[in-house]
Amino acid sequence: IVCLAIVAVHGRPESKERRYDGHQVLKVFPNLLENFKNIEALGDKYNLDFWNHPKHQNGTYDIHVTPEEVTDVMAELKQLGANANVWINDIQSLIEESRPSDRQKRATSTMSMNHYHSYAEINAFLNSIVASNNNTHLYKLGSSGQGRSINLIRFSTGTTSSGAHKKSIFMDGGIHAREWIAPAVVLYMIDQLANNPNSDPDIANLMDKFDWYLVPLVNPDGYEYTRSSDRMWRKNMASSYGTHHSSFRGCGSDEMGVDLNRNFAYHWNPANGGSYDQCEETYAGPHALSEPETQAMAHALDSVSNHTLVYLNIHSYGQYWIYPWGYTSHLPADASDLDHLGRVAASAIYHTHRHRYTVGEDTVVLYSAAGGADDYAKGHSGIKYAYTVELGDTGHYGFILPERYIQPSGQEIWAGVKAMAHELIREY
Ligand code: ARG
Ligand code: ZN
Repeated sequence: IVCLAIVAVHGRPESKERRYDGHQVLKVFPNLLENFKNIEALGDKYNLDFWNHPKHQNGTYDIHVTPEEVTDVMAELKQLGANANVWINDIQSLIEESRPSDRQKRATSTMSMNHYHSYAEINAFLNSIVASNNNTHLYKLGSSGQGRSINLIRFSTGTTSSGAHKKSIFMDGGIHAREWIAPAVVLYMIDQLANNPNSDPDIANLMDKFDWYLVPLVNPDGYEYTRSSDRMWRKNMASSYGTHHSSFRGCGSDEMGVDLNRNFAYHWNPANGGSYDQCEETYAGPHALSEPETQAMAHALDSVSNHTLVYLNIHSYGQYWIYPWGYTSHLPADASDLDHLGRVAASAIYHTHRHRYTVGEDTVVLYSAAGGADDYAKGHSGIKYAYTVELGDTGHYGFILPERYIQPSGQEIWAGVKAMAHELIREY
């Protein structure tokens, strides 16, 4: 834990913040096979925000509805023969419950793994590490649409005896703005590597065996927007591309955004799990790699790929450790290797706090969606062990996980990553 002074006070413009009073999240059991199609169509009709899509008939849709549409949506679902229960009955009260504590509003702040942090605090933390640790280096991968830098911190004790790069592990978080636990867990791992707060005898060995590349915040614009204005925002902050609809939740020219995890250039296809409509949560962008954030990440992945074994693209929620392909249900030729290493991680996670992570291929376990970072890392960059990790929980808080879950999430994921690293030391 590092103490540091934050120069600016990040006041929250309370009045401008979008509120979710009375917004609910429904858990919907499709019951009938044809309801998968029907419920997706209902989603299009009302422009609903799906928090989860089920993969099989016993799975559920988690659907965010406004108080105005809940009665109609419930009635339509009933007519279809689907069952709908209210899971979260007031999103706003969950947001209040998980709001960063008053500490964050003061001028002086302590970087702590018990809090969600602002973009400025995250950067100050990275800078303080680099200033005091010779084995670290800060790289600016690029600038976001609004001009924030996308930063990568590298931990490296040097090259191998023959002068080659060490094998590397690359992890990022925060590609989706509202998934706050993802950057928090990446920061937790940065803190472990930089400060070894638990005096873990393993850290020196892991630093000796691997180079570590971590990007805590892929989508800083979207993240800051979730802190100031709309806790449920997912995409980046790209402004209008061509024509658009303007009906959905105030979707206007200043509020478009691209789903960065549909924008990567490997079998990019908005029709496959994404959308052509810029007002939708899964808008894939006007073309592949249209966004500065995905360009920065794609370039970084391509530059490190010849010595990088593992890539983790960290999200929430659902507790999954999944691997390509996301664009097709066909498995990569080395799927059994990815499955094995995923199970090593999931088992270490389980033995930390008894949380179960589901391991499998993206499309089989979750749903089909093209343009994901994991597909790009594996298919384009050629990083063998590319995964999407969906952190907790499995369905109590969803995206709005309170701060008290940061420590346990960090502990279990770090345990999973370390187990994976040890497995790789045996093999490579
Ligand atoms: N929840 C993630 C998303 O919707 C899952 C991504 C899985 N990977 C994939 N290539 N589809 O972006
Ligand atoms: Zn996500």
